[in-house]
Amino acid sequence: MKVIENPSLKAFNSFGTEARAALAFTVESEEDVLSLPGFNPATDVILGGGSNVLFVDDVPGSVILNRILGISLIDESDGQVIIEAGAGENWHGLVRWTLAQGYCGLENLSLIPGLAGAAPIQNIGAYGVELSSVLEGVTCWDWTQSCWRSLRAEECRLGYRESRFKSAEPDRFLISSIRLRLSREFIPILSYAGLQEELSFAGINQASARDVSDAIIRIRSRKLPDPAVTGNAGSFFKNPALNREDAEKLIERVPGLPFWETAEGRLKLSAAWMIEHCGFKAYRKGDAGVSGQHALVLVNHGSASGREIAEISSMVRSAVDETFGIGLEAEPRLIEFKH
Ligand code: FAD
Ligand code: EPU
Repeated sequence: MKVIENPSLKAFNSFGTEARAALAFTVESEEDVLSLPGFNPATDVILGGGSNVLFVDDVPGSVILNRILGISLIDESDGQVIIEAGAGENWHGLVRWTLAQGYCGLENLSLIPGLAGAAPIQNIGAYGVELSSVLEGVTCWDWTQSCWRSLRAEECRLGYRESRFKSAEPDRFLISSIRLRLSREFIPILSYAGLQEELSFAGINQASARDVSDAIIRIRSRKLPDPAVTGNAGSFFKNPALNREDAEKLIERVPGLPFWETAEGRLKLSAAWMIEHCGFKAYRKGDAGVSGQHALVLVNHGSASGREIAEISSMVRSAVDETFGIGLEAEPRLIEFKH
């Protein structure tokens, strides 16, 4: 385990904002977890790739950088495989590894930044698929009971950009590995707008899982700003889901507002569209702003602070509330501490 004193966290978050911690521990094995001095949610933070956090404050205590590696096949039967990945594995690297082995199920989740251990935290999702469709379970350290736990997927209570880890019991668990149930049979999911068109444009009629992954990589690279170039954390707000009656009233009042039906029969509305229609697309104040490429993405053009980005998010939220009567919920975790 490596210990760094007073580290800069700039390189550890995809917004690229400056923040400091008192200490950083690089955890490379489950044994390292047991050697940690403990975890105090009032002062400490667990970090994967830092692609879904905004450092509004410095971290008064420790940052635990989860770097536990390893991918293994743990079971195979009837064309189904179960693989286990260390929490520190790069998510996209894991997706491409599974495709190279002929295991299908993760292709639509290609190119999502971050590490495997964070995937269950907000039940990552993209292009019509969520982690919940393949998650078998997780192994985690329970800080409250000081023991290792193996949680089945149902016990993780995954929802749209949600889990028990994110809202109900934040900071109770440190995930050390995840288990995924994949298939040797490829069942394409091409329903998301633009995906079928992207494949047709590439002249592909019978797509393989790798073709779908490649198509999604191309779409994502066009649509979303690259954090290596312009700091960001992907979508800054969740798409709000309303009950049918309220959503229909709003859609009638606001023609053109894109919406989709969820599996639970609610209607999900496009937050990007609402933000764009409030005039915020490409808005900039100093180095903090809203991407000109995608209105749901807040950006750091260079030396914005986390607090300046949080201020932009408050302005956007107020404007959407005033115009549409919708309270947007932030998707990334805002790292703030009581002073
Ligand atoms: P971090 O940002 O390091 O952490 C996120 C949260 O998880 C924090 O609360 C942290 O404390 C906690 N955490 C991290 N690791 C652990 C662990 N091992 N144990 C316990 N808690 C932990 N997300 C999507 O769902 N779909 C997308 O399409 C998508 N696109 C994106 C595009 C871009 C350009 C960017 C920058 C982000 C995007 N995201 C997307 C968000 C982000 O990639 C995911 O949320 C990802 O899972 C975050 O992984 P991470 O390792 O960077 O997590
Ligand atoms: N739109 C606008 N203006 C924009 C961008 C988009 O009006 O600047 C409209 C589009 O016209 C489209 C709609 O918004 O009708 C949806 O856009 P898009 O397909 O880009 O999807 P999204 O709802 O903005 C969600 C996820 C993304 C995920 C994509 C693909 C959330 C909060 N975001 O974005 O996840 O990659 O779908 O599945 O659910 C993330 O969570 O960080 C993330 C990037």
